[in-house]
Amino acid sequence: MDPNKRPETMERITTPELAEAFIDEQIAALRAQIGDKKVLLALSGGVDSSVVAALLIKAVGDQLVCVHVNHGLLRKGEPEQVIRVFREELGANLIYVDAVDRFLDKLAGVSDPEQKRKIIGKEFIDVFAEEAKKLENIEFLGQGTIYPDILESVGVKAHHNVGGLPEELNFELVEPVKLLYKDEVRVVGKALGLPDSMVYRQPFPGPGLGVRCVGAITRDRLEALREADAIVREEIGKLPETPWQYFCVIPDFQSTGIKYVDGQGQRYMGWAAIIRAVNTVDAVTATVPEIPFDVLCRMRDQIVKIPGINRCLWDISEKPVATIEFE
Ligand code: XMP
Repeated sequence: MDPNKRPETMERITTPELAEAFIDEQIAALRAQIGDKKVLLALSGGVDSSVVAALLIKAVGDQLVCVHVNHGLLRKGEPEQVIRVFREELGANLIYVDAVDRFLDKLAGVSDPEQKRKIIGKEFIDVFAEEAKKLENIEFLGQGTIYPDILESVGVKAHHNVGGLPEELNFELVEPVKLLYKDEVRVVGKALGLPDSMVYRQPFPGPGLGVRCVGAITRDRLEALREADAIVREEIGKLPETPWQYFCVIPDFQSTGIKYVDGQGQRYMGWAAIIRAVNTVDAVTATVPEIPFDVLCRMRDQIVKIPGINRCLWDISEKPVATIEFE
């Protein structure tokens, strides 16, 4: 039997009871596979790696070592949430690596999107490998591979692939959710007690805000983006039906703004923040949902107060002809 093929008889995990049964089964399988050895896991805070971490904590406790790399391109509050949930609430053995300067220094002046992705991917692997080398007796590598990753090894995700770990770190893989679809991973995450903000998190690209700080990333524009993005997530997140993905983008151009100082209008140059919200089933095509005008205005009013931003735009482009991300 091909271990990477989902058996036709496998029931879809749609209820807490089915999730519990899956969790019990996986705990037994993980214990049998890992024994008394150690497992390393790159924990991004995304749904898949978080569910794998929570499963491994249940199965092998502190034999799991999680590494959370902050590359400076995470959204507002994300590193703090990973630390709070995993270290403080679930008692995980978590190594937090602040690699912000290292990533942003490497990215300085780089405007080509593929080059940016390559730098982020390579730097991530380097940082992770460095941490792995500091540890002893690690024999396994946990991974949040899910079934669509196996099915889509070519296609939408192909250009995201940045390569793997160096050969000297030849760990055996531990992939407990590799036969599950995303909706099933969420049901399992919920049954494991992970917070809704993690379980129902919208997709977020590996290179993070890096592909939304369009062009060569600068720290000031990245900070403005992080703030604007938090406002968009907060306001659109309150809608009764949230779009599939919603975020903010700040391209590398400035336009004229005006501010009044002592009753005198002064012109100055500032960035334009672009609100993007899309609905899709498979990210291959996407439509643009209606956002109530008062919600757009509420976001605008907050976003234009962020230092450096003087304009707020709403992107109504569908995929095709535009892609979901800007680069
Ligand atoms: P596009 O922009 O190609 O995006 O329409 C389709 C979906 O893929 C996500 N995306 C990425 N995910 N690394 C990722 O892990 C990436 O480099 C990347 N680029 C795009 C995007 O957010 C959307 O959900």
